[in-house]
Amino acid sequence: MGLLNAFFMPQKNKDGRKGRGERLRHVAIIMDGNGRWAKERGKKRIFGHIKGAEKVPEIMQAAHEMGVEYLTLFAFSSENWNRPAAEVSALMRLLARTIKANREKFLGNKTRLLTIGDVSALPAFCRRELDLLKAQTKDFEGRNLVLALNYGSRDEITRAVKKMAGQVKSGNLEPDEISWDRISGNLDTAGIPDPDLLIRTSGELRLSNYLMLQAAYAELYFSKQYWPDFSREEFIAAVNEYHRRERRYGLTGEQLK
Ligand code: FPP
Repeated sequence: MGLLNAFFMPQKNKDGRKGRGERLRHVAIIMDGNGRWAKERGKKRIFGHIKGAEKVPEIMQAAHEMGVEYLTLFAFSSENWNRPAAEVSALMRLLARTIKANREKFLGNKTRLLTIGDVSALPAFCRRELDLLKAQTKDFEGRNLVLALNYGSRDEITRAVKKMAGQVKSGNLEPDEISWDRISGNLDTAGIPDPDLLIRTSGELRLSNYLMLQAAYAELYFSKQYWPDFSREEFIAAVNEYHRRERRYGLTGEQLK
């Protein structure tokens, strides 16, 4: 166990789950502000995305050192297709290039790559890189990078409801058997723990259709930094802030004692 990890060891409460110092397994990030970062430097938006992609390995490493098992990054939303075509295709090329360039790092660090979102709509050259690295890393445990690609919560829940409606229609599912567990098992995040901490950079204070159901009890942290400027130090500050908070899950503070 690394020094940092030992420092942030959870303080066990009576049920081992709720309250302050709770284990931080999953951090989700909205990497916002690439465009503004570039514009303020008189550069094209894509330059900001390139710098943003370069930031990812640093934050992955910091997350690992803090004991985080799952890091989920909002890399392309289901609404981002409406951006100018040149930006969309540049983002797709950047995604494929970044995956390829980091392949050895994933294999060396034993990091599993997962995706959420409807990746079937991505260009074939992106899917090829993603599928290859997903297959090469599928047996790794403990260290996971989840890329949200063509992802939006409303699209995700719509697809899940369609799937369950089909199961009801074919007689494989009774309406009474529909529970939150059943619904969450049909979301793209099936098998992934809910995010404990959700970070958004760039000073914007919204969730933008990101993990809306999964983040029901996530602690939110908003950073003023644009994503290309977001640092390891600020990531650690967000983790420290998380450990100072008390997660109550609808209970009273007294009940947690
Ligand atoms: C939001 O900033 C960022 C995105 C829509 C794309 C995020 C993509 C990357 C960081 C690069 C690829 C990532 C990986 C993991 C390979 P914005 O463009 O909306 O910024 P703005 O609000 O300042 O315009």
